[in-house]
Amino acid sequence: MDRRSVGVFDSGLGGLTAVRELRSILPSENIIYFGDTSRVPYGGRSSEILHHYARQDVHFLRSFDIKAILVACGTVSTTALPALQRENDLPILGVVEPACRRAAAKTRNKRVGLIATAASVHSGAYERTLHSIDPEIQVISRACPLFVPLVENGRFHRGDIVIETVAREYLEPMKDQGLDTLILGCTHYPLLTEIIADIMGSDVTLINVGQEAAWELKRTLERHGMLSDAASGETTLYASDRPDDFAQLAGRFLQQELQGTVRSVNIEQY
Ligand code: DGL
Repeated sequence: MDRRSVGVFDSGLGGLTAVRELRSILPSENIIYFGDTSRVPYGGRSSEILHHYARQDVHFLRSFDIKAILVACGTVSTTALPALQRENDLPILGVVEPACRRAAAKTRNKRVGLIATAASVHSGAYERTLHSIDPEIQVISRACPLFVPLVENGRFHRGDIVIETVAREYLEPMKDQGLDTLILGCTHYPLLTEIIADIMGSDVTLINVGQEAAWELKRTLERHGMLSDAASGETTLYASDRPDDFAQLAGRFLQQELQGTVRSVNIEQY
């Protein structure tokens, strides 16, 4: 039994979709969440910059007494995860592997779609992982660079003409490719589930990477004997810029009212 906190980070609000899952799967755990709002979006940045940011994010989380880290960011998971795992002596999990395992188990026609940030798509990490599970799976991928800024600005509701137009432009060409499973490869995208499902149709299974990663974290903590035995856990939120704006939208990502304030952190110090 281990009551230390779990660290979770993303470029901004998106990783809170994973925290939402963690809260229901692991209600006893304390979670410390960092959203790097001063540098969001990560998705168009180079591998060098992403490694630098990811190391600072981990360094900040490790300034607390934590037992494991969930990289609730597809972009960091596809580019910097192996380096983070090599350089740190605690379990660090990303979102790619659990999502690919679920997609491979779900697909019937072996045509799997991937939507994600440009950095994630260009990394090829999802394809490599899917092919290592099943070499026959065909992957149809598309970078959706406008999704993250729109979601960070609260434009994720059905009926919002801007997000719906952008989503149709990205997704309609994919719809004609006969895929039966679509990986939402960025943790911001579950906020767009309804809009994406409207376009793709009910025959396409949507994979929420944060949800799959939350289950993987549970299995990892179990394996290491690290589950908390506390009656209930707390979530503490940090952001590197505009903590008040972050707080305003965080409740919608978490689908529950926010307890406490969002604290500010100068990430450049780490
Ligand atoms: N939510 C992150 C991801 O899963 C980051 C997106 C971004 O900052 O561009 O990729």
